[in-house]
Amino acid sequence: MSGTTYIPALRFHWLTKMYDAVVGLFMPERRFKQALISRAGLCGDEKILDFGTGTATLSLMLKKALPGLQITAIDVDEKVLRIAKSKIGDTAIQLVHYGGERLPFGDNTFDCVVSSLVLHHLTDTQKQTAFREILRVIQPGGRLVIADWGLPTNRSQRLLFYLVQWLDGFETTTANLQGLVPNMIAAAGFRDVMRHERFQTVFGTLEILSAQKA
Ligand SMILES: C[S@@+](CC[C@H](N)C(=O)[O-])C[C@H]1O[C@@H](n2cnc3c(N)ncnc32)[C@H](O)[C@@H]1O
Repeated sequence: MSGTTYIPALRFHWLTKMYDAVVGLFMPERRFKQALISRAGLCGDEKILDFGTGTATLSLMLKKALPGLQITAIDVDEKVLRIAKSKIGDTAIQLVHYGGERLPFGDNTFDCVVSSLVLHHLTDTQKQTAFREILRVIQPGGRLVIADWGLPTNRSQRLLFYLVQWLDGFETTTANLQGLVPNMIAAAGFRDVMRHERFQTVFGTLEILSAQKA
């Protein structure tokens, strides 16, 4: 990757091949990704960007639910994209690799941007860059829908989140833990930023967020 440094799916490249097994086994993956899809409120023919697609599970769930969607799935990590490619097979999902800063798309390209478990891999500066870029590529009236770690629902959820912080680092996870991501989305220029479902997991509390481009 040329451009910014990044944290791979499970922190270390050698663990990437185990990502799907770990998430599938220890997290309510289908439930929270399904909640994200529901919050996107899609009709079925929209242009979608899956930001930080990883192994493309969310893109594949979207395509299965709504086969008419035009899905582009982007990531900074060529290795994880190779796994995504083998999972996708001949499903019509466009995989894109990029350098982590400017998204390689024109202004107002997508009806909706979805993103799952990516923001806690980004520093605050990288989060700001990502939100600015996502805002640029969404059409006016289009939606951003996110699933990521958020404010813990109780003390034990907070303690469990130390596992994620130990793995992915404190610098990138603190804004999530403090519930500051919605403020950062609003600061980038989105409106109607909302927090929806929250999921208690063995690694802490996941939340679904949505926002709209004016
Ligand atoms: C924990 S994985 C989540 C993968 C997938 N979205 C999911 O829900 O299973 C985080 C992903 O974010 C990607 N990533 C990290 N920094 C990124 C950036 N600046 N832009 C896009 N993707 C990034 C990583 O390469 C990794 O694939």
